[in-house]
Amino acid sequence: MGAATVTVIDNRTGKKVDLPIQNGAIRATDLGQLGLVSYDPALLNTAVCKSKITYIDGDRGILRYRGYPIEELAEKSSFLETAYLIVKGELPTTSHFRMWQQNIKHHTLIHENLKQFIQGFRYDAHPMGILIGTVGALSTFYPEAKNVMDLESRRVQTRRLIGKIPTIAAFAYRHSRGLPYVYPDNELAYTGNFLSMMFKMTELKYRPDPVLEHALEVLFILHADHEQNCSTTTMRVIGSALSDPYVAVAGAAAALGGPRHGSANEEVIHMLKEIGSVDHVPGLIKQVKGGERRLMGFGHRVYKNYDPRAKIIRRMAHQVFEVTGKNPLIDIALELERIALQDEYFVSRKLYPNVDFYSGIIYEAMNLPVAMFPVLFAIARTAGWMAQWAELVTDEEQKIARPKQIYVGHDERAYVPLDQRRDGGALETEVYGPL
Ligand code: CMC
Repeated sequence: MGAATVTVIDNRTGKKVDLPIQNGAIRATDLGQLGLVSYDPALLNTAVCKSKITYIDGDRGILRYRGYPIEELAEKSSFLETAYLIVKGELPTTSHFRMWQQNIKHHTLIHENLKQFIQGFRYDAHPMGILIGTVGALSTFYPEAKNVMDLESRRVQTRRLIGKIPTIAAFAYRHSRGLPYVYPDNELAYTGNFLSMMFKMTELKYRPDPVLEHALEVLFILHADHEQNCSTTTMRVIGSALSDPYVAVAGAAAALGGPRHGSANEEVIHMLKEIGSVDHVPGLIKQVKGGERRLMGFGHRVYKNYDPRAKIIRRMAHQVFEVTGKNPLIDIALELERIALQDEYFVSRKLYPNVDFYSGIIYEAMNLPVAMFPVLFAIARTAGWMAQWAELVTDEEQKIARPKQIYVGHDERAYVPLDQRRDGGALETEVYGPL
């Protein structure tokens, strides 16, 4: 085998350099020897960190947390145990797990002032907006969180965020419904307590249906981490400035809230409802192929095969429907999938259902409102964000994130006083692109 280097020749000058290859990568900074930068809008082929948390093989449809296959975790683990694994790197022993559960439960209450803060949002505020704002506000309640290099502080903020985020999420929903807030019930499991805070009415004790509680556990496990996706990258970029984790999670959640990312599950439901019946599926496929719209819940930057999470969710849907009754949208979704997976447009582009394609159908059957879907995603992903953030701040190779640009604007030009300018002002199309 040859040396682990790649030889680059600059044909403009004949200069030749050998760039070392490590872990299948060359260092972009090594290109500096040739006076070059690497240009990679949207970071399509750039590794920004080394990570031990999540492994994905997108071509083979493989996802593992800390080496454990997602299928096994979904079948055998609980969300809090998986969160421990993601955050701490190993599965817990019985005593460590007990302690972890207690530590998370210790943090489920939120400061009463935060209730008033939530109260300040308009009655129809989107719960994702409330979540983003309120998590950001936590930063002002815990100023010691700015000690990001302190291990004990990082541990406390991690437990606190995982503990509080379901409470904030449920309060956001109750606010939008004008319902009184339900305080955490720490006798229940993490997901059971969340369902209680969402749905408890006048009964003294809310008892979650075990099938639905289990389904939510699985959905949370599937969403807990997904290596360097858009929101996790946001978390790392904000974290690289050594900002505290609350504002970083607020930023990550803001990224997650976009329709190309964690709000796609919301868009899937809108799309399936718009299709209305199985007969109308070919019409939608035609629109997608004509470039008029995207098939929401399909396609992925990394998976060029069936998203393993979507497979698990599709199987689980039927267990949930046995309790809730069938969500008729599933028939439309299955028909969409059937047609798309045979169609040259989707096959040639390797577009398969992703995690968002079936998750919304289950959430809806469980009576969870559509606007809450990205919020549910954020609850689960908080474990991953915090683990990735801790990995970042302790990584000696990391510095403040500061990418380069290729400047394509004007050369230097002289300022012309206002009364001497003859041409009209800048055309919006020139500045912002075609309208
Ligand atoms: N429907 C129709 N065509 C699509 C779709 C889709 N959902 N996704 C990609 N394509 C086409 C796209 O038009 C392009 O075709 P062409 O080469 O002819 O221009 C080709 O496939 C490659 O697409 P891309 O936009 O370059 O791919 P990307 O890696 O930048 O985008 C994606 C990935 C997830 C943003 C995109 O597939 C998409 O918009 N999907 C729908 C939204 C969605 O379901 N998002 C959830 C992602 S999974 C959970 C999460 O990350 O939060």
